[in-house]
Amino acid sequence: MYNSKIIGLGHFVPENVVTNDDLSKVMDTSDEWIQERTGIQERRHVIKGDDTTTSMGVKAAKIAIERAGIDKDDIDFIIFATLSPDYYFPGPGVLVQRDLDIKTVGALDVRNQCSGFVYGLSVADQYVKSGMYKNVLVIGSELHSHGLDMTTRGRGVSVIFGDGAGAAVVSREEDASKGILSSHLHSEGQHAEELSLIAPGMGKRWVIDIIEDNDPNDESYYPYMNGQFVFKNAVVRFIEVIMEGLQKNGLQPSDIDMLIPHQANLRISQFVQKKFGLTDNQVFNNITHYGNTTAASIPIALTEAWEEGKIKDGDLVVLAAFGSGFTWGSVIIRW
Ligand code: UT7
Repeated sequence: MYNSKIIGLGHFVPENVVTNDDLSKVMDTSDEWIQERTGIQERRHVIKGDDTTTSMGVKAAKIAIERAGIDKDDIDFIIFATLSPDYYFPGPGVLVQRDLDIKTVGALDVRNQCSGFVYGLSVADQYVKSGMYKNVLVIGSELHSHGLDMTTRGRGVSVIFGDGAGAAVVSREEDASKGILSSHLHSEGQHAEELSLIAPGMGKRWVIDIIEDNDPNDESYYPYMNGQFVFKNAVVRFIEVIMEGLQKNGLQPSDIDMLIPHQANLRISQFVQKKFGLTDNQVFNNITHYGNTTAASIPIALTEAWEEGKIKDGDLVVLAAFGSGFTWGSVIIRW
């Protein structure tokens, strides 16, 4: 039996900064409303043609692989989490295998939205712990901006989401007291439609329906979010799943050195921080600059926290996510 450990981290965000004032020029919103309700000041949007979800993931992965001190051909397995894939099929995992020119290793696509990176990390952890793979590349990447309703009709969702990617190399660790200690995953599909993008799908709204209807006011291919309902569930599940992880390892909230919550809303992170009595130095937030980047938010935040020297050897690092599905989860790491 081995343990698993993150040995390399990387992130990529597009250069194009979109401020709240930029958004208020195309829809009825304001810097004041966005900052007060979400904490977001700006986000990044890909300029059409510059990048895709896969290309951003590849850029983040290259940095993570280099920092891990391994060669791309040492990667034994690829896991790619996104809700905004380049193609309906195939998923972006195989595109990474192609674009990084890695040998014909397995490539798995994870569809767990905001919890996608946590789910992906959990899978990587199990593969490494079982001895099946030595180095697993886990990517979270999203290109939201081209799929948002950038009119007043869509403002409740569109002002929140941003583009970007993060990646981690998960590798074998001989010391059982170090690395990923445990991961905890949950779902509650009863609320699937409360945060969803229904079309095109083979359930309710087929591509052929959209083409036949040819209705410019069709909203079904834009994301929908019942914001207040999602918010209320998020704060409860974040706290539950962090406690579950701590208890599993005989730890207390006060043992946390760095909490990296999925960057859904600064108010959610602040609520969780207060509930656990953590200081500003114990919780990492970057939603102010990037908005909510869904599956990319945790690996981007983790990379930035590490780059800023806020995560040190021996630290207890807790990752926690909640989102569409609903799905939620946590990962407890001894760095
Ligand atoms: O990452 C996955 C998990 N996601 C989350 O956890 C997100 C959870 N939810 C939230 O973060 C918040 O619910 C939002 C930020 C999405 C919305 O904030 P809220 O305080 O719940 O606002 P609301 O949806 O209740 O809307 C309040 C008002 C409404 O107007 P009326 O009906 O009171 O006249 C909205 O139409 O604010 C209006 N509104 C806006 N106004 C200006 C909604 N979006 C905007 C906007 N700019 N962008």
